[in-house]
Amino acid sequence: MKANELRKKYIEFFVSKKHTEISGKSLIPENDPTVLFTTAGMHPLVPYILGQDHPAGTRLVNVQKCIRTGDIEEVGDSSHLTFFEMLGNWSLGDYFKDEAIAMSWEFLTSPQWLGIDPSKLAVTCFEGDDEVPRDDISAAAWRKLGVPEDRIFFLPRKDNWWGPPGATGPCGPDTEMFIDTGIPGTAESRPGVSDGKWLEIWNDVFMGYRKNADGTYTELERKCVDTGMGIERTITILQGKKSVYETELFTPILNKIGDLSGKAYGKDEDLDRSFRIIADHTRTATFILGDETGVLPSNVGQGYILRRLIRRASRHARKLGVEGNFLPHISRVIIQEYSPVYKLLAEKEELILGELAKEEEKFLLTLQKGEHEFEKLLPNLLKGDKRIIPGRLAFKLYDTYGFPLEITEELAGEHGFSVDKDGFEEAFKKHQEKSKMDDNQTFKGGLADHSESTTRLHTATHLLHKALRTVLGDHVGQKGSNITPERLRFDFSHPDKMSSEELQRVEDIVNEQIKRDLPVSFQTMSLDEARNSGAIALFGEKYDEVVKVYSIGDFSKEVCGGPHVEHTAVLGSFKILKEQSSSQGVRRIKAVLQ
Ligand code: ALA
Repeated sequence: MKANELRKKYIEFFVSKKHTEISGKSLIPENDPTVLFTTAGMHPLVPYILGQDHPAGTRLVNVQKCIRTGDIEEVGDSSHLTFFEMLGNWSLGDYFKDEAIAMSWEFLTSPQWLGIDPSKLAVTCFEGDDEVPRDDISAAAWRKLGVPEDRIFFLPRKDNWWGPPGATGPCGPDTEMFIDTGIPGTAESRPGVSDGKWLEIWNDVFMGYRKNADGTYTELERKCVDTGMGIERTITILQGKKSVYETELFTPILNKIGDLSGKAYGKDEDLDRSFRIIADHTRTATFILGDETGVLPSNVGQGYILRRLIRRASRHARKLGVEGNFLPHISRVIIQEYSPVYKLLAEKEELILGELAKEEEKFLLTLQKGEHEFEKLLPNLLKGDKRIIPGRLAFKLYDTYGFPLEITEELAGEHGFSVDKDGFEEAFKKHQEKSKMDDNQTFKGGLADHSESTTRLHTATHLLHKALRTVLGDHVGQKGSNITPERLRFDFSHPDKMSSEELQRVEDIVNEQIKRDLPVSFQTMSLDEARNSGAIALFGEKYDEVVKVYSIGDFSKEVCGGPHVEHTAVLGSFKILKEQSSSQGVRRIKAVLQ
């Protein structure tokens, strides 16, 4: 079964079970400052799992693009990916364990759907702890479907508990489905032991709790189901392939790398690793550049991850002996392959290829200088008795030559050195404090539950958007929005620097609307109705058929998922801190509520 067929079948199955298909969302979470990327299908649905009504109803199904960069160092082996697509079905206070499990089983085993032999399946359930009891209900549901006792395993929280996706949010016990790959295994083999015999194919999470900032859990009033099936991994299993890189999602990419480098995949483990890193990272970078929100390579936040991916891929291209610009050629294959499903990739092709080319060029210059610098340092380092690169040196290479830490590590490794990573982090933090980089909240760690503060800033963002259109004109369109508990950041199209009078007027207008204490409300309607009603909708954004339109009194009307405050007076006082250029034709405003 190919990826395209799996996507189709999954949606078809759940639509036949009265689910509404909703579109996948951006890779950049809209209202969660605690993570950089959407890491699971449920991420954009968090407000609904926590109790808000979803305009499309209580049973939903979708495909969501996700990025997990936590295991970036492991990419290169045959299974880890930084980008993947997740299939998911949701119950928002509708069905719960019995029905979710019965539907999962039917989809997996029915010949009409995946047709997996039931004797190849096993499941795990939460074994319970001091806080949450053992999940006997799920186990009973599996038994009822004919899963034998010796194929039902109870495992602890580290295996059978999922969420929250960021620092706080919804979570709960889960039940996971595994498939026997048929490899011999060992006496220890069982679901949850990663020796290759049992592979997880699907996860049904029973969202019953909310994790709070102080680490406590609150039971949700309305219980939800969140499930996740990774497309790449599932087709690998269904096709009986050993690695995702042997599937149709990757072979065209690997072939292109082979054509351009003159090397062959599958001959040398070291070179194969470079093939896989280039393929994975270029795919992820292509999706970040081709996302609804315009992230570009930079030194902070998502832009920094993007930069690292591009640079690491480019460095591995050098290991394959490639010279000059390479990644855009690989990206073109990826865009071709995915644009039937992700149309925005084709629309943004020029930008994607252009940015990859620019960043790769910059990197090649950097690489030359950095390698040269590294070689100059080497004789001195070799005099010492430890084979460790001090953190401050690694940081200097990063800061002065733009060398990401891991490239220093790889270079170092090639000379038998390791890098003092803690020392690097320390130097990085010191530098960060000094230059007051306020963008990358995730490095600060230990974020509290700031949902109230981000909700207020979210409403303020709508007021700002409308005020900008009032003062500057209707050409102003949202190009990006990022909210942390401390401030909002809004990128918008406008060709010139704003004058101080214009800024003052915008600020005054927003404050006026706050003082008027306007009610905030929403209505659900079709996207066409929303557009006809004059609501602002983002150009290029994918919306569902039925959308929410938030109105702030008579002042602003915008298509948006929420959440928002109920009355504007709670916003207090709005202040613009900075107006600057973000990129060609795009301005950026940072503002706070006091
Ligand atoms: N949210 C769950 C996961 O990502 C389904 O595995």
